[in-house]
Amino acid sequence: MKDLIDKLYYEHNLSRDELLLLIENRNKGLSDYLFEKARQVRIQYYGHDVYMRGLIEFTNYCKNDCYYCGIRRSNSNADRYRLDKKQILNCCDTGYDLGFRTFVLQGGEDNYYKDEIIADIVSTIKAKYPDCAVTLSIGEKSYESYKMFFDSGADRYLLRHETANYIHYSKLHPSNLSLESRKQCLYNLKEIGYQVGCGFMVGSPYQATDCIVEDLLFIKNLTPHMIGIGPFIPHKDTPFADKTAGTLELTLFLIGIIRLMLPNALIPATTALGTIHPKGRELGILSGANVVMPNLSPTEVREKYLLYDNKICTGDEAAECRICLQNRIESIGYKLVVSRGDCVPI
Ligand code: 5AD
Ligand code: FES
Repeated sequence: MKDLIDKLYYEHNLSRDELLLLIENRNKGLSDYLFEKARQVRIQYYGHDVYMRGLIEFTNYCKNDCYYCGIRRSNSNADRYRLDKKQILNCCDTGYDLGFRTFVLQGGEDNYYKDEIIADIVSTIKAKYPDCAVTLSIGEKSYESYKMFFDSGADRYLLRHETANYIHYSKLHPSNLSLESRKQCLYNLKEIGYQVGCGFMVGSPYQATDCIVEDLLFIKNLTPHMIGIGPFIPHKDTPFADKTAGTLELTLFLIGIIRLMLPNALIPATTALGTIHPKGRELGILSGANVVMPNLSPTEVREKYLLYDNKICTGDEAAECRICLQNRIESIGYKLVVSRGDCVPI
């Protein structure tokens, strides 16, 4: 199996069958070899730098009803909130002082925020902080809306594809949502000129290794700037409450594979990874990840943006997370940097 990792390292590509074989036959020794190669590549492109993104979860209203997600429309136990422009700008002010140079505005699909409102918030942040990147993560919108946000100054857009397998997609989502439109959104975002991020949950219900292989091939084909993966974690008020969580072990293995497939990619060590294991994010970095995305949302709303159970950092101030992460990153010999953290050229 090591020969497959070597091939991936040199060619950045494997066939469907080879990926399947590699994932199904993984073990401790193979993982260690993969992580060593993944770190080598990561260090070649990014040194020991870890980029940070300040996540501002500005609304937990959502018109969708994804079966896995804690803020789905049908969850009447969710305590809903919205941040206004002033509150969002306050988060950016705090974040800027803490060294953040990327702000990620993330929310459920909430039609309360008309396109003009989003565009106004984006352009105001960009005018105040021209040295910062603004990332949007607000779901599926029309080409025109995406274009308008881009023209107002948005630099990046995160939209996880969730799964690249059509049958699997339909098992995770109600029938009004489709993989076709999800993919179309990603192609539109790319065409408009955004730096794009896609991604999927590891160990989501009904995910077979075939699905994961399709995810990897889809990602390779799309060549996004960023790939966000994290373990699926059940939320008690969703139809998937009793499903099993994804594992640390498989998530790390896939981070390593993705690093070798897309050597210069931005790969976050996600909050979900930090939730299933106390050292999850550090292990993510050691498997090839190079980004962390701590929360900048006001503490009053933190506990309300719960996509899954037991989410970490909901009681911590932005400054506490910043210090905590810095210590964690430094403990493994890497460093958090004050930078927009753009993708370096291949
Ligand atoms: N477990 C892990 N990740 C989840 N997400 C949503 N619900 C869950 C869950 N239960 C992820 C989705 C989404 C991102 C913002 O969070 O992949 O795109
Ligand atoms: Fe939030 Fe550690 S990163 S407290």
